[in-house]
Amino acid sequence: EKTKKETLDRKNAEAMLGGGEKRIAAQHKKGKLTARERISVLMDEGSFEEIGRFVLHRSKDFGLDKEHYLGDGVVTGYGKVNGRLTYVYAQDFTVFGGSLSETHAEKICKIMDMALKNGAPIVGLNDSGGARIQEGVLSLAGYADIFYKNTLASGVIPQLSAIMGPCAGGAVYSPAITDFILMVENTSYMFVTGPNVVKTVTHEEITSEELGGAMTHASKSGVTHFVAENEIECLLSIKKLLSYMPQNCVDEPSLWPYTLADESRTLLDTIIPENPNQPYDMREVIGQIVDEGSFHEVHEHFAENIVVGFSRIAGRSVGIVANQPAVLAGVLDIHASQKAARFVRFCDSFNIPLLVLEDVPGFLPGSDQEWNGIITNGAKLLYAFCEATVPRITVITRKAYGGAYDVMNSKHIGADLNFAWPSAEIAVMGASGAAEIIFKREIAQAENPSEKLAEKVEEYTNKFANPFRAAHRGYVDEVIYPSQTREKLIRAFEMLENKVAHLPKKKHGNIPL
Ligand code: COA
Repeated sequence: EKTKKETLDRKNAEAMLGGGEKRIAAQHKKGKLTARERISVLMDEGSFEEIGRFVLHRSKDFGLDKEHYLGDGVVTGYGKVNGRLTYVYAQDFTVFGGSLSETHAEKICKIMDMALKNGAPIVGLNDSGGARIQEGVLSLAGYADIFYKNTLASGVIPQLSAIMGPCAGGAVYSPAITDFILMVENTSYMFVTGPNVVKTVTHEEITSEELGGAMTHASKSGVTHFVAENEIECLLSIKKLLSYMPQNCVDEPSLWPYTLADESRTLLDTIIPENPNQPYDMREVIGQIVDEGSFHEVHEHFAENIVVGFSRIAGRSVGIVANQPAVLAGVLDIHASQKAARFVRFCDSFNIPLLVLEDVPGFLPGSDQEWNGIITNGAKLLYAFCEATVPRITVITRKAYGGAYDVMNSKHIGADLNFAWPSAEIAVMGASGAAEIIFKREIAQAENPSEKLAEKVEEYTNKFANPFRAAHRGYVDEVIYPSQTREKLIRAFEMLENKVAHLPKKKHGNIPL
Protein backbone atom coordinates (compact mmCIF):
# COMPACT_ATOMS: atom_id res chain seq x y z
CA GLU A 1 0.00 0.00 0.00
CA LYS A 2 2.62 2.43 1.10
CA THR A 3 4.73 2.01 -2.00
CA LYS A 4 1.76 2.61 -4.28
CA LYS A 5 1.07 5.89 -2.53
CA GLU A 6 4.75 6.73 -2.75
CA THR A 7 4.74 6.09 -6.47
CA LEU A 8 1.90 8.54 -6.92
CA ASP A 9 3.60 11.09 -4.66
CA ARG A 10 6.78 10.77 -6.67
CA LYS A 11 5.03 11.13 -10.01
CA ASN A 12 3.09 14.15 -8.81
CA ALA A 13 6.26 15.79 -7.58
CA GLU A 14 7.99 15.02 -10.86
CA ALA A 15 5.14 16.50 -12.90
CA MET A 16 5.31 19.71 -10.87
CA LEU A 17 8.89 20.20 -12.01
CA GLY A 18 8.15 20.05 -15.76
CA GLY A 19 11.49 20.13 -17.59
CA GLY A 20 13.43 20.36 -14.33
CA GLU A 21 14.81 22.94 -11.96
CA LYS A 22 17.53 24.21 -14.26
CA ARG A 23 15.10 25.02 -17.02
CA ILE A 24 12.68 26.59 -14.53
CA ALA A 25 15.51 28.85 -13.34
CA ALA A 26 16.25 29.79 -16.96
CA GLN A 27 12.57 30.63 -17.46
CA HIS A 28 12.58 32.87 -14.36
CA LYS A 29 15.76 34.54 -15.50
CA LYS A 30 14.00 35.68 -18.66
CA GLY A 31 11.39 37.40 -16.47
CA LYS A 32 8.87 34.68 -17.24
CA LEU A 33 6.72 32.57 -14.94
CA THR A 34 6.27 28.83 -15.37
CA ALA A 35 3.04 27.37 -16.74
CA ARG A 36 1.89 26.35 -13.27
CA GLU A 37 2.74 29.71 -11.73
CA ARG A 38 0.73 31.44 -14.43
CA ILE A 39 -2.28 29.26 -13.78
CA SER A 40 -2.10 29.97 -10.07
CA VAL A 41 -2.20 33.74 -10.74
CA LEU A 42 -5.08 33.40 -13.21
CA MET A 43 -7.34 31.04 -11.30
CA ASP A 44 -9.13 31.71 -8.02
CA GLU A 45 -7.02 30.33 -5.21
CA GLY A 46 -7.13 26.58 -4.83
CA SER A 47 -9.72 26.14 -7.59
CA PHE A 48 -7.56 24.63 -10.32
CA GLU A 49 -8.10 20.97 -11.21
CA GLU A 50 -5.59 19.47 -13.60
CA ILE A 51 -6.52 17.04 -16.35
CA GLY A 52 -3.91 14.87 -18.04
CA ARG A 53 -0.97 15.38 -15.70
CA PHE A 54 0.67 12.07 -16.62
CA VAL A 55 0.29 12.18 -20.38
CA LEU A 56 3.46 11.16 -22.26
CA HIS A 57 4.42 11.62 -25.89
CA ARG A 58 4.58 8.53 -28.10
CA SER A 59 7.44 9.62 -30.29
CA LYS A 60 10.38 7.29 -30.91
CA ASP A 61 12.48 9.23 -33.42
CA PHE A 62 15.66 11.22 -32.79
CA GLY A 63 16.14 9.77 -29.32
CA LEU A 64 12.80 10.94 -27.99
CA ASP A 65 12.00 7.42 -26.81
CA LYS A 66 14.51 8.12 -24.02
CA GLU A 67 13.28 11.58 -23.12
CA HIS A 68 9.93 11.91 -21.40
CA TYR A 69 8.36 14.55 -19.18
CA LEU A 70 5.05 14.01 -17.42
CA GLY A 71 2.35 16.14 -19.01
CA ASP A 72 4.30 16.59 -22.26
CA GLY A 73 4.78 20.34 -22.15
CA VAL A 74 1.31 21.63 -21.45
CA VAL A 75 -0.70 21.96 -18.24
CA THR A 76 -4.45 21.67 -18.86
CA GLY A 77 -7.55 21.77 -16.72
CA TYR A 78 -10.35 23.83 -15.28
CA GLY A 79 -11.06 26.04 -12.31
CA LYS A 80 -12.70 29.30 -11.36
CA VAL A 81 -11.94 32.82 -12.53
CA ASN A 82 -13.92 35.51 -10.68
CA GLY A 83 -15.89 32.59 -9.20
CA ARG A 84 -16.93 31.23 -12.60
CA LEU A 85 -15.95 28.02 -14.39
CA THR A 86 -13.07 28.59 -16.83
CA TYR A 87 -10.89 26.16 -18.76
CA VAL A 88 -7.20 26.80 -19.23
CA TYR A 89 -4.18 25.40 -20.99
CA ALA A 90 -0.68 26.67 -20.30
CA GLN A 91 2.25 25.62 -22.42
CA ASP A 92 5.35 24.71 -20.44
CA PHE A 93 8.45 26.12 -22.09
CA THR A 94 10.67 24.02 -19.83
CA VAL A 95 9.57 20.85 -21.64
CA PHE A 96 10.92 20.70 -25.22
CA GLY A 97 10.50 24.48 -25.39
CA GLY A 98 6.73 24.11 -24.98
CA SER A 99 6.70 22.63 -28.47
CA LEU A 100 3.50 21.07 -29.68
CA SER A 101 3.49 17.31 -30.12
CA GLU A 102 0.65 14.98 -31.05
CA THR A 103 -0.15 14.30 -27.39
CA HIS A 104 0.33 17.93 -26.32
CA ALA A 105 -2.29 18.85 -28.94
CA GLU A 106 -4.59 16.07 -27.77
CA LYS A 107 -4.52 17.48 -24.26
CA ILE A 108 -5.48 20.94 -25.52
CA CYS A 109 -8.24 19.50 -27.71
CA LYS A 110 -9.62 17.51 -24.81
CA ILE A 111 -10.25 20.56 -22.67
CA MET A 112 -11.48 22.57 -25.66
CA ASP A 113 -14.11 19.89 -26.15
CA MET A 114 -15.03 20.05 -22.47
CA ALA A 115 -15.25 23.85 -22.55
CA LEU A 116 -17.53 23.70 -25.56
CA LYS A 117 -19.71 20.93 -24.13
CA ASN A 118 -20.06 22.62 -20.76
CA GLY A 119 -20.32 26.17 -22.07
CA ALA A 120 -17.48 28.01 -20.37
CA PRO A 121 -14.63 30.26 -21.57
CA ILE A 122 -11.24 28.86 -22.44
CA VAL A 123 -7.96 30.67 -21.87
CA GLY A 124 -4.78 29.62 -23.68
CA LEU A 125 -1.44 30.67 -22.19
CA ASN A 126 0.97 30.27 -25.09
CA ASP A 127 4.72 29.89 -24.68
CA SER A 128 6.09 27.56 -27.31
CA GLY A 129 8.86 26.94 -29.81
CA GLY A 130 6.24 25.76 -32.29
CA ALA A 131 5.74 22.36 -33.83
CA ARG A 132 7.70 19.57 -32.07
CA ILE A 133 10.29 19.26 -34.79
CA GLN A 134 11.01 15.59 -34.09
CA GLU A 135 7.38 14.63 -34.72
CA GLY A 136 6.90 16.10 -38.18
CA VAL A 137 3.41 15.92 -39.60
CA LEU A 138 1.90 14.52 -36.37
CA SER A 139 2.56 17.86 -34.80
CA LEU A 140 1.11 19.74 -37.78
CA ALA A 141 -1.99 17.58 -37.54
CA GLY A 142 -2.22 18.56 -33.89
CA TYR A 143 -2.25 22.25 -34.79
CA ALA A 144 -4.93 21.73 -37.36
CA ASP A 145 -7.10 19.86 -34.84
CA ILE A 146 -6.85 22.89 -32.55
CA PHE A 147 -7.64 25.40 -35.33
CA TYR A 148 -10.68 23.38 -36.30
CA LYS A 149 -11.98 23.29 -32.73
CA ASN A 150 -11.23 27.01 -32.27
CA THR A 151 -13.43 27.68 -35.26
CA LEU A 152 -16.26 25.46 -34.04
CA ALA A 153 -16.10 27.12 -30.63
CA SER A 154 -16.04 30.63 -32.12
CA GLY A 155 -19.17 32.49 -31.11
CA VAL A 156 -20.19 29.71 -28.70
CA ILE A 157 -17.76 30.29 -25.82
CA PRO A 158 -15.30 33.16 -25.29
CA GLN A 159 -11.76 32.13 -26.27
CA LEU A 160 -8.80 34.17 -25.02
CA SER A 161 -5.13 33.78 -25.93
CA ALA A 162 -2.23 35.22 -23.98
CA ILE A 163 1.15 35.15 -25.71
CA MET A 164 3.81 34.81 -23.02
CA GLY A 165 6.83 33.72 -25.03
CA PRO A 166 7.51 32.69 -28.61
CA CYS A 167 4.55 32.04 -30.90
CA ALA A 168 5.69 31.53 -34.47
CA GLY A 169 4.76 29.78 -37.68
CA GLY A 170 1.57 27.73 -37.58
CA ALA A 171 1.24 28.41 -33.85
CA VAL A 172 -0.04 31.92 -34.52
CA TYR A 173 -3.26 30.81 -36.10
CA SER A 174 -4.98 29.42 -33.06
CA PRO A 175 -4.68 32.73 -31.18
CA ALA A 176 -5.67 34.56 -34.36
CA ILE A 177 -8.98 32.70 -34.52
CA THR A 178 -9.76 33.28 -30.84
CA ASP A 179 -11.62 36.36 -29.65
CA PHE A 180 -8.84 38.29 -27.92
CA ILE A 181 -5.06 38.22 -27.88
CA LEU A 182 -2.93 39.62 -25.07
CA MET A 183 0.84 40.02 -25.32
CA VAL A 184 3.57 40.78 -22.79
CA GLU A 185 6.14 43.45 -23.60
CA ASN A 186 9.70 42.28 -24.26
CA THR A 187 9.11 38.58 -23.57
CA SER A 188 6.59 37.61 -26.22
CA TYR A 189 6.51 37.75 -29.97
CA MET A 190 4.36 36.46 -32.79
CA PHE A 191 5.20 36.08 -36.45
CA VAL A 192 4.55 33.76 -39.33
CA THR A 193 8.25 33.79 -40.27
CA GLY A 194 11.02 35.00 -37.98
CA PRO A 195 13.84 37.51 -38.52
CA ASN A 196 16.21 34.88 -40.02
CA VAL A 197 13.79 33.83 -42.74
CA VAL A 198 12.87 37.46 -43.36
CA LYS A 199 16.54 38.29 -43.87
CA THR A 200 17.10 35.39 -46.26
CA VAL A 201 14.07 36.13 -48.37
CA THR A 202 13.82 39.91 -48.38
CA HIS A 203 17.28 40.99 -47.05
CA GLU A 204 15.46 43.06 -44.46
CA GLU A 205 17.21 43.16 -41.09
CA ILE A 206 14.80 43.36 -38.19
CA THR A 207 14.72 42.19 -34.58
CA SER A 208 12.08 39.84 -33.17
CA GLU A 209 10.67 42.64 -31.05
CA GLU A 210 10.34 45.01 -34.01
CA LEU A 211 8.94 42.34 -36.28
CA GLY A 212 6.43 40.79 -33.92
CA GLY A 213 6.74 42.14 -30.38
CA ALA A 214 3.82 43.26 -28.26
CA MET A 215 3.85 46.97 -29.19
CA THR A 216 4.31 46.16 -32.88
CA HIS A 217 1.17 44.04 -32.91
CA ALA A 218 -0.70 46.44 -30.64
CA SER A 219 -0.06 49.50 -32.79
CA LYS A 220 0.84 48.45 -36.33
CA SER A 221 -0.93 45.21 -37.19
CA GLY A 222 -3.71 45.18 -34.61
CA VAL A 223 -3.05 41.45 -34.12
CA THR A 224 -3.00 41.86 -30.35
CA HIS A 225 -5.81 43.59 -28.49
CA PHE A 226 -3.91 44.17 -25.25
CA VAL A 227 -0.32 44.73 -24.18
CA ALA A 228 0.88 44.16 -20.64
CA GLU A 229 4.11 45.34 -19.07
CA ASN A 230 4.66 42.01 -17.39
CA GLU A 231 3.07 38.60 -16.99
CA ILE A 232 1.18 39.32 -13.77
CA GLU A 233 -0.44 42.37 -15.37
CA CYS A 234 -1.34 40.23 -18.39
CA LEU A 235 -2.98 37.53 -16.27
CA LEU A 236 -4.94 40.08 -14.23
CA SER A 237 -6.06 41.68 -17.47
CA ILE A 238 -7.52 38.33 -18.59
CA LYS A 239 -9.47 38.13 -15.34
CA LYS A 240 -10.82 41.63 -15.84
CA LEU A 241 -11.74 40.95 -19.46
CA LEU A 242 -13.66 37.80 -18.54
CA SER A 243 -15.68 39.74 -15.97
CA TYR A 244 -17.62 41.56 -18.71
CA MET A 245 -18.51 38.40 -20.59
CA PRO A 246 -21.15 35.74 -20.17
CA GLN A 247 -20.07 32.11 -20.00
CA ASN A 248 -21.35 31.30 -23.47
CA CYS A 249 -23.63 32.51 -26.25
CA VAL A 250 -26.88 31.52 -24.54
CA ASP A 251 -25.86 33.07 -21.24
CA GLU A 252 -26.06 36.75 -20.25
CA PRO A 253 -23.21 38.80 -18.79
CA SER A 254 -23.60 39.08 -15.03
CA LEU A 255 -25.33 42.16 -13.71
CA TRP A 256 -23.24 43.86 -11.04
CA PRO A 257 -25.01 45.26 -8.02
CA TYR A 258 -25.73 48.95 -8.47
CA THR A 259 -27.88 51.40 -6.54
CA LEU A 260 -29.25 54.34 -8.52
CA ALA A 261 -28.23 57.75 -7.28
CA ASP A 262 -28.07 61.16 -8.93
CA GLU A 263 -27.08 60.06 -12.43
CA SER A 264 -26.83 63.50 -14.05
CA ARG A 265 -23.35 64.42 -15.24
CA THR A 266 -23.13 68.19 -15.68
CA LEU A 267 -19.55 68.05 -16.96
CA LEU A 268 -20.94 66.71 -20.23
CA ASP A 269 -22.81 69.98 -20.88
CA THR A 270 -19.53 71.80 -21.52
CA ILE A 271 -17.46 69.10 -23.17
CA ILE A 272 -18.19 70.00 -26.82
CA PRO A 273 -16.04 72.95 -27.96
CA GLU A 274 -17.72 76.02 -29.47
CA ASN A 275 -15.82 75.55 -32.71
CA PRO A 276 -17.03 72.36 -34.44
CA ASN A 277 -13.55 71.74 -35.84
CA GLN A 278 -11.91 71.70 -32.44
CA PRO A 279 -11.16 68.25 -31.06
CA TYR A 280 -12.05 66.87 -27.65
CA ASP A 281 -11.27 63.51 -26.09
CA MET A 282 -14.15 61.06 -26.46
CA ARG A 283 -12.66 59.04 -23.58
CA GLU A 284 -13.74 61.89 -21.29
CA VAL A 285 -17.30 61.50 -22.53
CA ILE A 286 -17.09 57.75 -21.94
CA GLY A 287 -15.73 58.37 -18.43
CA GLN A 288 -18.80 60.46 -17.58
CA ILE A 289 -21.26 57.94 -18.97
CA VAL A 290 -20.09 54.59 -17.62
CA ASP A 291 -19.84 53.33 -14.04
CA GLU A 292 -16.75 54.87 -12.52
CA GLY A 293 -13.56 53.10 -13.55
CA SER A 294 -15.41 50.41 -15.47
CA PHE A 295 -14.13 51.21 -18.97
CA HIS A 296 -11.76 48.51 -20.21
CA GLU A 297 -10.37 49.64 -23.52
CA VAL A 298 -9.70 47.11 -26.29
CA HIS A 299 -7.12 47.82 -29.01
CA GLU A 300 -5.99 50.98 -27.21
CA HIS A 301 -2.98 51.57 -29.46
CA PHE A 302 -4.46 50.55 -32.81
CA ALA A 303 -6.59 52.77 -35.08
CA GLU A 304 -6.91 55.35 -32.34
CA ASN A 305 -9.43 57.32 -34.38
CA ILE A 306 -12.03 54.93 -33.00
CA VAL A 307 -12.27 53.84 -29.37
CA VAL A 308 -13.78 50.49 -28.43
CA GLY A 309 -14.05 48.67 -25.13
CA PHE A 310 -16.13 47.09 -22.41
CA SER A 311 -17.80 49.00 -19.63
CA ARG A 312 -20.66 48.85 -17.18
CA ILE A 313 -23.66 51.13 -17.04
CA ALA A 314 -25.55 50.73 -13.76
CA GLY A 315 -23.89 47.35 -13.38
CA ARG A 316 -24.77 46.16 -16.88
CA SER A 317 -22.03 45.09 -19.32
CA VAL A 318 -22.02 47.34 -22.38
CA GLY A 319 -19.68 47.34 -25.37
CA ILE A 320 -18.76 50.86 -26.48
CA VAL A 321 -17.82 51.96 -30.00
CA ALA A 322 -16.92 55.64 -30.14
CA ASN A 323 -15.45 57.90 -32.80
CA GLN A 324 -12.45 59.77 -31.40
CA PRO A 325 -12.40 63.40 -32.59
CA ALA A 326 -8.99 63.85 -30.93
CA VAL A 327 -7.32 61.58 -33.54
CA LEU A 328 -7.68 62.31 -37.27
CA ALA A 329 -10.89 64.18 -36.39
CA GLY A 330 -12.48 60.78 -35.74
CA VAL A 331 -12.66 59.72 -39.40
CA LEU A 332 -13.37 56.13 -40.31
CA ASP A 333 -10.54 54.43 -42.17
CA ILE A 334 -9.66 50.83 -42.97
CA HIS A 335 -8.16 49.95 -39.61
CA ALA A 336 -10.83 51.74 -37.60
CA SER A 337 -13.54 49.89 -39.52
CA GLN A 338 -11.88 46.52 -39.00
CA LYS A 339 -11.29 47.19 -35.32
CA ALA A 340 -14.83 48.28 -34.62
CA ALA A 341 -16.44 45.58 -36.78
CA ARG A 342 -14.67 42.81 -34.93
CA PHE A 343 -15.62 44.27 -31.58
CA VAL A 344 -19.27 44.68 -32.57
CA ARG A 345 -19.39 41.06 -33.71
CA PHE A 346 -17.86 39.84 -30.46
CA CYS A 347 -20.43 41.76 -28.41
CA ASP A 348 -23.26 40.51 -30.57
CA SER A 349 -22.07 36.90 -30.32
CA PHE A 350 -22.11 37.11 -26.55
CA ASN A 351 -25.22 39.16 -25.78
CA ILE A 352 -23.38 42.30 -24.74
CA PRO A 353 -25.46 45.40 -25.58
CA LEU A 354 -23.82 48.08 -27.73
CA LEU A 355 -23.48 51.80 -27.19
CA VAL A 356 -22.22 53.99 -30.03
CA LEU A 357 -20.93 57.51 -29.37
CA GLU A 358 -20.83 59.26 -32.68
CA ASP A 359 -18.80 62.20 -33.89
CA VAL A 360 -17.68 61.30 -37.38
CA PRO A 361 -16.80 63.62 -40.27
CA GLY A 362 -16.87 60.75 -42.80
CA PHE A 363 -14.42 58.29 -44.33
CA LEU A 364 -10.73 59.10 -44.82
CA PRO A 365 -10.08 60.18 -48.43
CA GLY A 366 -7.05 59.15 -50.49
CA SER A 367 -5.56 56.64 -52.90
CA ASP A 368 -3.95 54.72 -50.04
CA GLN A 369 -7.34 54.06 -48.48
CA GLU A 370 -9.10 53.36 -51.78
CA TRP A 371 -6.41 51.00 -53.09
CA ASN A 372 -6.28 49.08 -49.85
CA GLY A 373 -10.02 48.59 -49.91
CA ILE A 374 -11.78 51.11 -47.71
CA ILE A 375 -14.91 50.10 -49.58
CA THR A 376 -14.73 46.45 -48.54
CA ASN A 377 -13.41 47.27 -45.09
CA GLY A 378 -15.86 50.03 -44.31
CA ALA A 379 -18.57 47.59 -45.36
CA LYS A 380 -17.43 45.24 -42.59
CA LEU A 381 -18.48 47.72 -39.94
CA LEU A 382 -21.73 48.45 -41.71
CA TYR A 383 -22.46 44.73 -41.98
CA ALA A 384 -21.50 44.06 -38.38
CA PHE A 385 -23.96 46.66 -37.09
CA CYS A 386 -26.70 45.59 -39.49
CA GLU A 387 -26.65 42.00 -38.31
CA ALA A 388 -26.27 42.72 -34.58
CA THR A 389 -29.38 41.73 -32.65
CA VAL A 390 -28.28 42.84 -29.17
CA PRO A 391 -29.74 46.07 -27.74
CA ARG A 392 -28.16 48.92 -29.68
CA ILE A 393 -28.14 52.60 -28.74
CA THR A 394 -26.46 55.56 -30.45
CA VAL A 395 -25.69 58.98 -29.03
CA ILE A 396 -24.68 61.57 -31.64
CA THR A 397 -22.51 64.07 -29.83
CA ARG A 398 -21.52 66.20 -32.81
CA LYS A 399 -20.87 65.28 -36.43
CA ALA A 400 -22.77 62.55 -38.21
CA TYR A 401 -21.85 63.11 -41.82
CA GLY A 402 -22.48 61.24 -45.01
CA GLY A 403 -22.28 57.49 -45.38
CA ALA A 404 -20.58 57.31 -42.00
CA TYR A 405 -23.87 58.51 -40.43
CA ASP A 406 -25.57 55.42 -41.84
CA VAL A 407 -22.76 53.10 -40.79
CA MET A 408 -22.46 54.27 -37.18
CA ASN A 409 -25.46 52.38 -35.84
CA SER A 410 -28.10 54.58 -37.42
CA LYS A 411 -31.80 54.00 -36.87
CA HIS A 412 -32.05 52.74 -40.44
CA ILE A 413 -29.78 49.75 -39.85
CA GLY A 414 -31.51 48.52 -36.77
CA ALA A 415 -30.45 50.65 -33.80
CA ASP A 416 -33.07 50.56 -31.06
CA LEU A 417 -32.69 54.09 -29.74
CA ASN A 418 -30.90 57.05 -31.23
CA PHE A 419 -30.21 60.08 -29.11
CA ALA A 420 -28.59 63.32 -30.20
CA TRP A 421 -27.09 66.15 -28.25
CA PRO A 422 -28.09 69.71 -29.25
CA SER A 423 -24.59 70.04 -30.74
CA ALA A 424 -25.29 67.27 -33.28
CA GLU A 425 -24.87 68.02 -36.98
CA ILE A 426 -26.55 65.41 -39.12
CA ALA A 427 -25.91 66.08 -42.78
CA VAL A 428 -24.39 64.78 -45.97
CA MET A 429 -21.21 66.70 -45.28
CA GLY A 430 -19.80 69.72 -43.45
CA ALA A 431 -21.50 73.03 -44.26
CA SER A 432 -18.62 74.67 -46.15
CA GLY A 433 -18.07 71.68 -48.46
CA ALA A 434 -21.79 71.40 -49.04
CA ALA A 435 -22.23 75.10 -49.82
CA GLU A 436 -19.31 75.08 -52.25
CA ILE A 437 -20.92 72.28 -54.23
CA ILE A 438 -24.58 73.14 -54.33
CA PHE A 439 -24.10 76.91 -54.70
CA LYS A 440 -21.09 76.70 -57.00
CA ARG A 441 -22.56 78.80 -59.80
CA GLU A 442 -24.18 81.36 -57.53
CA ILE A 443 -20.91 81.85 -55.67
CA ALA A 444 -18.86 82.15 -58.87
CA GLN A 445 -21.22 84.72 -60.32
CA ALA A 446 -21.49 86.80 -57.15
CA GLU A 447 -19.88 90.18 -56.94
CA ASN A 448 -18.10 89.13 -53.79
CA PRO A 449 -17.71 85.32 -53.97
CA SER A 450 -16.27 84.86 -50.49
CA GLU A 451 -19.07 86.84 -48.93
CA LYS A 452 -21.57 84.76 -50.89
CA LEU A 453 -19.90 81.56 -49.77
CA ALA A 454 -20.08 82.63 -46.14
CA GLU A 455 -23.75 83.45 -46.55
CA LYS A 456 -24.48 80.07 -48.12
CA VAL A 457 -22.47 78.23 -45.51
CA GLU A 458 -24.57 79.90 -42.87
CA GLU A 459 -27.74 78.95 -44.70
CA TYR A 460 -26.67 75.31 -44.89
CA THR A 461 -25.54 75.35 -41.28
CA ASN A 462 -28.86 76.68 -40.10
CA LYS A 463 -30.70 74.00 -42.04
CA PHE A 464 -28.62 70.95 -41.33
CA ALA A 465 -25.98 71.53 -38.66
CA ASN A 466 -28.41 70.48 -35.97
CA PRO A 467 -30.24 67.36 -34.85
CA PHE A 468 -33.75 68.58 -35.53
CA ARG A 469 -34.18 67.64 -39.17
CA ALA A 470 -33.43 64.05 -38.19
CA ALA A 471 -35.62 64.30 -35.08
CA HIS A 472 -38.58 65.56 -37.16
CA ARG A 473 -38.35 62.35 -39.15
CA GLY A 474 -37.90 60.12 -36.11
CA TYR A 475 -34.41 59.10 -37.21
CA VAL A 476 -33.34 60.56 -33.89
CA ASP A 477 -35.68 59.46 -31.13
CA GLU A 478 -34.86 62.23 -28.71
CA VAL A 479 -32.65 65.28 -28.50
CA ILE A 480 -31.23 65.24 -24.99
CA TYR A 481 -29.15 67.50 -22.79
CA PRO A 482 -25.69 66.00 -22.51
CA SER A 483 -25.90 65.94 -18.72
CA GLN A 484 -28.89 63.57 -18.96
CA THR A 485 -27.06 61.02 -21.11
CA ARG A 486 -26.12 58.55 -18.42
CA GLU A 487 -29.57 58.55 -16.89
CA LYS A 488 -31.22 58.11 -20.28
CA LEU A 489 -28.92 55.20 -21.10
CA ILE A 490 -29.54 53.45 -17.79
CA ARG A 491 -33.27 53.52 -18.45
CA ALA A 492 -32.95 52.64 -22.11
CA PHE A 493 -30.72 49.62 -21.61
CA GLU A 494 -33.05 48.39 -18.89
CA MET A 495 -36.01 48.87 -21.23
CA LEU A 496 -34.22 46.84 -23.93
CA GLU A 497 -33.23 44.06 -21.56
CA ASN A 498 -35.55 41.46 -23.05
CA LYS A 499 -35.21 42.48 -26.68
CA VAL A 500 -35.93 39.69 -29.14
CA ALA A 501 -34.73 40.01 -32.73
CA HIS A 502 -34.13 37.31 -35.30
CA LEU A 503 -32.22 37.32 -38.54
CA PRO A 504 -33.58 35.44 -41.55
CA LYS A 505 -32.65 31.76 -41.43
CA LYS A 506 -29.44 31.11 -43.31
CA LYS A 507 -26.36 28.91 -43.24
CA HIS A 508 -24.21 31.93 -42.47
CA GLY A 509 -23.90 35.39 -43.90
CA ASN A 510 -21.12 36.49 -46.20
CA ILE A 511 -19.53 39.45 -44.42
CA PRO A 512 -17.20 41.24 -46.89
CA LEU A 513 -13.88 39.92 -45.59
N1 COA B 1 10.69 21.24 -31.20
C1 COA B 1 11.37 20.53 -30.30
N2 COA B 1 12.12 21.08 -29.33
C2 COA B 1 12.18 22.42 -29.29
C3 COA B 1 11.51 23.22 -30.21
C4 COA B 1 10.73 22.58 -31.19
N3 COA B 1 10.02 23.30 -32.07
N4 COA B 1 11.75 24.51 -29.93
C5 COA B 1 12.55 24.52 -28.87
N5 COA B 1 12.83 23.27 -28.47
C6 COA B 1 13.67 22.83 -27.34
C7 COA B 1 15.14 23.10 -27.56
O1 COA B 1 15.71 22.01 -28.20
C8 COA B 1 15.61 23.28 -26.13
O2 COA B 1 15.74 21.99 -25.55
P1 COA B 1 16.67 21.74 -24.27
O3 COA B 1 16.05 22.43 -23.14
O4 COA B 1 16.68 20.28 -24.12
O5 COA B 1 18.00 22.32 -24.63
C9 COA B 1 14.46 23.93 -25.44
O6 COA B 1 13.30 23.65 -26.24
C10 COA B 1 14.60 25.44 -25.31
O7 COA B 1 14.92 25.97 -26.59
P2 COA B 1 16.07 27.02 -26.79
O8 COA B 1 16.34 27.12 -28.24
O9 COA B 1 17.21 26.69 -25.90
O10 COA B 1 15.36 28.33 -26.22
P3 COA B 1 15.53 29.82 -26.68
O11 COA B 1 14.74 30.63 -25.73
O12 COA B 1 16.95 30.14 -26.88
O13 COA B 1 14.84 29.89 -28.14
C11 COA B 1 13.14 29.48 -29.81
C12 COA B 1 13.47 29.69 -28.33
C13 COA B 1 11.66 29.17 -29.90
C14 COA B 1 13.43 30.77 -30.57
C15 COA B 1 13.99 28.37 -30.41
O14 COA B 1 13.90 27.26 -29.58
C16 COA B 1 13.57 27.96 -31.80
O15 COA B 1 13.90 28.62 -32.78
N6 COA B 1 12.83 26.83 -31.92
C17 COA B 1 12.38 26.30 -33.17
C18 COA B 1 11.25 27.11 -33.73
C19 COA B 1 10.70 26.42 -34.97
O16 COA B 1 11.26 26.55 -36.02
N7 COA B 1 9.61 25.66 -34.78
C20 COA B 1 9.07 24.80 -35.77
C21 COA B 1 8.18 25.48 -36.74
S1 COA B 1 6.64 26.03 -36.11
